[in-house]
Amino acid sequence: MTTFHDFHIHHEPGDADATPLLLLHGTGGDERDLIAFGRAVAPRSPLLGLRGRRTEGPVTRWFRRHGEGVFDLPDLEARQAELLSAIEAAPAAFGFARPPVAIGYSNGANITTAMLMRGGARALSGAVLMRSMAGLEPRPDLDLAGLPVLMLDGAYDPLAPTASRSAQWLTQHGAQLERKTGGPGHELTADDMRLTRDWLARLPALTG
Ligand code: MLT
Repeated sequence: MTTFHDFHIHHEPGDADATPLLLLHGTGGDERDLIAFGRAVAPRSPLLGLRGRRTEGPVTRWFRRHGEGVFDLPDLEARQAELLSAIEAAPAAFGFARPPVAIGYSNGANITTAMLMRGGARALSGAVLMRSMAGLEPRPDLDLAGLPVLMLDGAYDPLAPTASRSAQWLTQHGAQLERKTGGPGHELTADDMRLTRDWLARLPALTG
């Protein structure tokens, strides 16, 4: 299978009892971008990389923006709902033992954050948000009780000035948030990998 719900995908099977990872690239990336990262942080996990369907010139994205950091919120709302439908169908289609943990970087973290705010936690076992920004506001009835979330920020990341707002929303609505610094800027580092690997190893304890 190379497409799923009209998304280009890259799927790598893993051990049946290991938590699957859903990998969501940043602006300009594709379904393979985070596969090596996923394999490094979870050697036994099934991996599913998806490609965003929006384009900005030649560049792939998950949703439209009006400018750097200025999101097209109606488009973000529609695109997160499409992505959620695909994620909800993934366990049956790929034989996952449980819902996946989403790992998103930059634009991929931003659509993941939006999905969490609109109720998408029901389709996930957890989320890793690397260099994320706030977009859609939380639904008033949002219940994230017990959802493990790891946020990895860049200490001086100029592209993610609103991460603290989503951290506050996640905590207010009950997520089990761990927030750490993954590196100095927007780029991923070996620390992001190490912190994600350690957090995933603790996931069974976090989810009880
Ligand atoms: C976004 O548009 O999602 C953010 O500005 C980060 C990025 O450049 O992708």
